[in-house]
Amino acid sequence: MTNTNTLLDAAFRKAISQSLGFEADPLIGLSQNETFGDYQSNAAMGLAREVAQRSGQKTNPRAVAEKIIAQLDLGNMAEQVTIAGPGFINIRLSPVWLADQLTARSGDNRLGIDPAAHPRKVVVDYSGPNIAKQMHVGHLRSTIIGDCLARVIEYQHNQIIRQNHLGDWGTQFGMLIAYLRSQSQDTDARQDITDLEEFYRQAKKRFDELPTFAEEARNTVVQLQAGQSAELAAWRRIVDETRRHYQPIYDRLGVSLKPEHERGESFYNPMLQQVVEDLLSQGIAIRSEGAIVVFTEGFENPLIIQKSDGGYLYGTTDLAAIRYRAQKLGATRIIYTHDSRQAQHFAQVFATAARAGWAAGVSLEYAPFGTMLGADGKPFKTRSGDTVKLKDLLDEAEERAFGLVSQKNPELDEAHRRQIARAVGIGAVKYSDLSKDRTSDYVFNWDKMLSLDGNTAPYLQYVYARIKSIFRKAGKLPSPSAGRLQLDTPQEQALAKHLLRVGEIVESVARELKPHLLCAYLYDLAVRFSSFYENCPVLQSEPEIRQSRLALCDLTARTMALGLDLLGIEHPEQM
Ligand code: ARG
Repeated sequence: MTNTNTLLDAAFRKAISQSLGFEADPLIGLSQNETFGDYQSNAAMGLAREVAQRSGQKTNPRAVAEKIIAQLDLGNMAEQVTIAGPGFINIRLSPVWLADQLTARSGDNRLGIDPAAHPRKVVVDYSGPNIAKQMHVGHLRSTIIGDCLARVIEYQHNQIIRQNHLGDWGTQFGMLIAYLRSQSQDTDARQDITDLEEFYRQAKKRFDELPTFAEEARNTVVQLQAGQSAELAAWRRIVDETRRHYQPIYDRLGVSLKPEHERGESFYNPMLQQVVEDLLSQGIAIRSEGAIVVFTEGFENPLIIQKSDGGYLYGTTDLAAIRYRAQKLGATRIIYTHDSRQAQHFAQVFATAARAGWAAGVSLEYAPFGTMLGADGKPFKTRSGDTVKLKDLLDEAEERAFGLVSQKNPELDEAHRRQIARAVGIGAVKYSDLSKDRTSDYVFNWDKMLSLDGNTAPYLQYVYARIKSIFRKAGKLPSPSAGRLQLDTPQEQALAKHLLRVGEIVESVARELKPHLLCAYLYDLAVRFSSFYENCPVLQSEPEIRQSRLALCDLTARTMALGLDLLGIEHPEQM
């Protein structure tokens, strides 16, 4: 079903070309102020200049707006079209048209959200923890935001290729394998590396203190890179052990990353030499002080792609990954959700790939995010100044949510309360991240994220559960999608207009890569629903009105559920 903004866009384009004699973008947007209308066209101001230029005669935006309106055919869509201020054209949708549109959507399980007109193959590169290190809060943001974007874009019927670009290769493995070997001469023996961080720390300590060990570590890297089986086996053990740490976190977060989505840095290792050679032969890379580097306009420091000792770097791997994703996987859009501190890195990598011709027809998009801060405004740490372990964070979220749920629902048995608390606690952590514009830093605050009022997951989950309880009370009534909607009160109209917008929102999230737009939409939905529910009796009203209001309740619940699904947040039936 076509989105309202698209319908308006088409009608205005036609009116512009008929009235002014040339084509132009009508600049349709939501109204700034609902008292004037629901949508507005902001084009008349710019068009007045263009008309004057073309005709050599002065004109003003209001006159242009009037000409456009004279040709505008919106059928029964609009109740009112007015000109405001310097020449904004405001459109107020007609309640009858709204009711028709929503009635049509109530039987549609996609709620009117269209698949992409031209589905693409889209790679989303997210999470990317580093082997033998704890996942930190930066990886949490990348994981949550990336997962949401993958879900939204997938919902539009694009083919999503999730890529977990693990940091699983590099010189540190020489040290780790050598350390593993030093603990037992037999790398196959089951060493205790379950506390990987401690293992890493000890290995590093030895590396720094013992020159003979450092030497051995360097030799071990060479063995590993040469594909020696003992070294490879030890490496694999370390990778597997790390996976045992992060996979449960993904599962607990309800994130759709599975082992088959792993494409660690090691995967690209065999392609790196070719990458460097090709960049050299195209004259894009040059030798500088023994290393091989690529200079990019606007950047003072070059991207180093091969060190003087022959080692490759993070950027070399990313270049190989782009080439692989574009040429072998056939992706036409590649999205990276990573920390904004990697902005320079991705800018240089993208520019280099473009110059090399590896990304022709592919849009390379970097969706950076800011830092998660503690109450003190500094990067989020434990009280003792350590990085916060994700597992501890999620445990605390569930525990706090359990308190909240127990308070609200003392009569439910404990297992049930635990189950709800998991959805609420994990949902709260994810939502507090997703609901902020990702480009800014944000302050992690337990009380705010678990509050039942405001723009939080528990509030949305609560509204959803409340609607579900209406249906439990309603008992056996005709299916809510039977019959036609009737939008008589301002609250019903306000809710209906908002319900109709969900497709527009999904589109803008997929385009702008901003999950917070969806969160803001769902929060607004919850607020509008609450106002409707306070002002418009549902179960107590006359059968015909009751039927229509139940249909609005049902559409709200389904829209909320779909929105939360796209965010990767659960929605229990009861709360
Ligand atoms: N492992 C990196 C880190 O921890 C993130 C990987 C990002 N993905 C990429 N293609 N470079 O910072």
